[in-house]
Formats: sequence, structure tokens, C-alpha cells
Amino acid sequence: MSRKWNRRQFLAGSTAVAGVAADAQAQPPGRPIRVGFIGVGGRGTSLLRVTLTMPGIEVPAVCDINEANLSRAQSLVEQSGRPRPEGYSSGIEDFRRLVARDDLDAVVNAGPWEWHTPMSVATMEAGKYAATEVPAATTLEECWSLVRASEASGKPCMILENVCYFRNALMVLNLVQQGVLGDLAHCEGGYQHDVRVAFFGRKERGEVPGEVSWRGMHAVRTNGNIYPTHPIGPIAWWLDINRGDRFTYLTSMSSRSRGINHFVTKRFGKEHRNASRRYALGDVNTSMIMTEKGRTVTLYHDTSLPRPYDLILRVQGTNGIYSGTLDKLYVEGRSPEHEKWEDPERYYAQYEHAIWKALGERARGRGHGGADYLTLHQFYEAVRQNRQTPIDVYDTAAWSAIMPLSAQSVAARSAPIDFPDFTQGRWKRARPIEFLGI
Ligand SMILES: NC(=O)c1ccc[n+]([C@@H]2O[C@H](COP(=O)([O-])OP(=O)(O)OC[C@H]3O[C@@H](n4cnc5c(N)ncnc54)[C@H](O)[C@@H]3O)[C@@H](O)[C@H]2O)c1
Repeated sequence: MSRKWNRRQFLAGSTAVAGVAADAQAQPPGRPIRVGFIGVGGRGTSLLRVTLTMPGIEVPAVCDINEANLSRAQSLVEQSGRPRPEGYSSGIEDFRRLVARDDLDAVVNAGPWEWHTPMSVATMEAGKYAATEVPAATTLEECWSLVRASEASGKPCMILENVCYFRNALMVLNLVQQGVLGDLAHCEGGYQHDVRVAFFGRKERGEVPGEVSWRGMHAVRTNGNIYPTHPIGPIAWWLDINRGDRFTYLTSMSSRSRGINHFVTKRFGKEHRNASRRYALGDVNTSMIMTEKGRTVTLYHDTSLPRPYDLILRVQGTNGIYSGTLDKLYVEGRSPEHEKWEDPERYYAQYEHAIWKALGERARGRGHGGADYLTLHQFYEAVRQNRQTPIDVYDTAAWSAIMPLSAQSVAARSAPIDFPDFTQGRWKRARPIEFLGI
């Protein structure tokens, strides 16, 4: 049987399983799966820690160009009772030797954004499942290369979008799928989180304080929504994006940029060379997305001004509305008081998502309220069962594409910019979102 999945099998989700059942990478039930890690800084280390709490997973290899981070990761694996993994740290391309190993089923990469696509593509080309931190790509060409590599190799690529697995996001998915909110018209989301501290070096991380970090360099260069996937992941699930609907175009606008200069001045003094540097990233970027079925999404990127964290996660239909900011709902004819917000408790009692019922206890306390555990669990379950990943390469590409598309629109006075159809028309077929191993 062919090792390759064709586009049809791919889009059919679990039916693709038959296409790879005889794959050399197939796991007999009960055998541990073998996972390599690339990039074990802040996030990669958290993902590794969560992984090490899961039975049936071996970690034979880890790669990081920072030797201190690499050896911390190797020690963590050892402390979990597993053999010390082989380390790869001979330069920025050394991950290629890791992905080429013949004793890995999957590779998780959590390095800087500009490395996600090269690492994921190399992983798939080497015949392994790829999981990548967010965003999976920074250009449209990279989005396409993920899609092409996945289709050509028959290996899935899952963006580790943990907000999809938040408890409220999944309870709301149930509400949406069961029609409680009616026909959907509009969603709103935002990455609204003051991350300026991550734009500059930090002493406690062994970096030069005030130096622009890899993440800060994206703020120097790009004006748009440079971190769209946290809010758009759950919204795309609510709206059946790539599963009966699709994003068609967006328009985007950025405010002027003041917050980063303000931050550097306060923290490092007005004489610091980065205090007067020009940062392309506007303080607040607002994008509006249209879908094929005429639903709209407002998306914010707001990371350079002082503010509390808020993903918004609002969804609105003909019967009512959920607001993630308030964590409250209003459902016409059902909420006790006319046009008054209602607490969500009784909805959780009735509509708690099956994955939270099954794994919530185990997940709690393991990263972002348990969502990190569930995200990784779903990826590893797909690897174990040799199935398509619940978030596939088309979702991965469509969500990540907002970064370059919004930058294009901002640069063109908010002109509407079309989304590529990474599925090439197959979005019309409803493909359920799958929850594996529950
Ligand atoms: N999903 C979430 O909730 C969440 C949270 C935090 C960060 N992230 C994402 O995780 C990723 C990593 O962020 P971070 O904060 O951990 O960054 P970080 O700078 O702490 O870690 C990046 C690591 O990658 C290593 N690295 C860089 N280039 C490499 C290469 N060519 N080969 C091997 N290793 C290399 C660095 O040495 C470092 O250890 C980013 O994409 C970020 O957006 C996601």
C-alpha cells in the first residue's frame, strides 16, 4: 500500500488511516511512541515536562543550540526515569540530524517562529509526524510548503494551538454544535497580552538585557497581527473553518507604534539605543475576516501596551451570545432574565465537552489550566493510532496565514486581501473535528 496519503484521504480525516495502516512507522498497540524535541527554551521545556508525565512516550533525542537549555532538557528526561536522550547542538541546522533518526515517530518543535516551518517540513520529509508551536509559519510561501510537505509525505502537521482545548472554548464548541446559540453570525477574539518583556533580552535567561530578542525582531520588522492563532483556533472550530466554511478575505488596520519605545525608555532609560528605535508593529492591530458563508470575525493583536490578558472569545448567533471576557452567556428564551448576562455553571453541567469529562482531572494543572496536556495528548494519540491529527495541516496553514495577510493589508491602506484556499476546494466537505482516545 502506498505510503502517501492523497489530498482526498487527507481531508477525509480518519478515513486516511486506511491509507497509512501499513506504513513502516505504524505502531503496534502497546508499544511506546518515540518523540524528539527541537527548541527547549521556555515553551519547549514546558511541553517536555508535560510530555514526561504521560506513560508510553520515549524521548530519545533533543536539540537546542543553547547548551544550557539542551542539558536541562536531557536531565529532565533522565529524572523522569527514561534514558538520557542524545543531544544535538552543533549549529542552527543540527535539527536535521535529529529528524533523520530512524527511532522517532514524531518531532515537536518549539523554537523561534522563523524556524517552525523549516523544522516541520524537515520532520515530515523524514517520515515523522510534526507538531509545531504557534504560529506555524510567518509567510504564505511557508504555509504552502507545510501543506505540500504534508501531502507529499503523508505525514500530518499539527499546530499546537492549546486555546482550542481550553475548557470554555470546548464547552462553547458543544453549545455551537448543538445549536444552542443558533445560526452564527459573528465572532471576536484577540491576543491581548502585554508581551513587551519578551521582545528584549532578560538577564535571568542569560541574555543581554535590552537587546532585541528573536521575538522582538518580528515587532521591529512586521506591522500586522503577528500572533493570530490563539484566538483564531477556537473561533475557526466554532465556525467550521475548512470543515464546511472557509476564510475568504481580511482587511487589517494598525494604530501607531508607541508602546514598545515607552517600555524601553522606562526599563532601560531614554539613552538606550532601543528606546528611540523604530518598531514597525502598531500597538493595536485590528483585522476583520469574512467567511464564505458570510460570517465575520474581528481579531485584535494588542501586545505593546499595559493591559490585563484577555482573548475575548465572543461568539454570537441567532439565539444568543457567549463572552469569554465575562465568561457569561445570554441565550434568548433560556437565560432567566431578559437581556441579562448569565453565569455559565449550568451550561458546564450540561455541555461540558467529552474530552474534559474524560481527561479533565488528569489534565488540570498541566499547562494553561490543563489545555497543554490535552493538546499534546491529542497529538500523541494521533501518532499512536496512526491517524490524522485533530488539527491538520490545512488548519495549521489557514490560521498562521493571518500574520502575512494582515501585514499585506496594513501596508495597502487596509485593502482586502484574499486567503489562499489551502484545501483547494475540499473545505466544502464537512469534516468533523476529532477527539482521539477518549
Ligand atoms: N502555546 C503557548 O501557549 C505558547 C507559550 C509560549 C511560547 N509559545 C511559542 O513557543 C515558541 C518558543 O517560545 P519561547 O518563549 O520558548 O522562546 P525561547 O527563546 O525561550 O526558546 C526558543 C529555544 O529555541 C532554541 N533555538 C533557536 N534556534 C534554534 C535552532 N535553529 N535549532 C535548535 N534550537 C534553536 C533557543 O536556543 C531556545 O532554547 C514560540 O513559537 C512561541 O510563540 C507558545
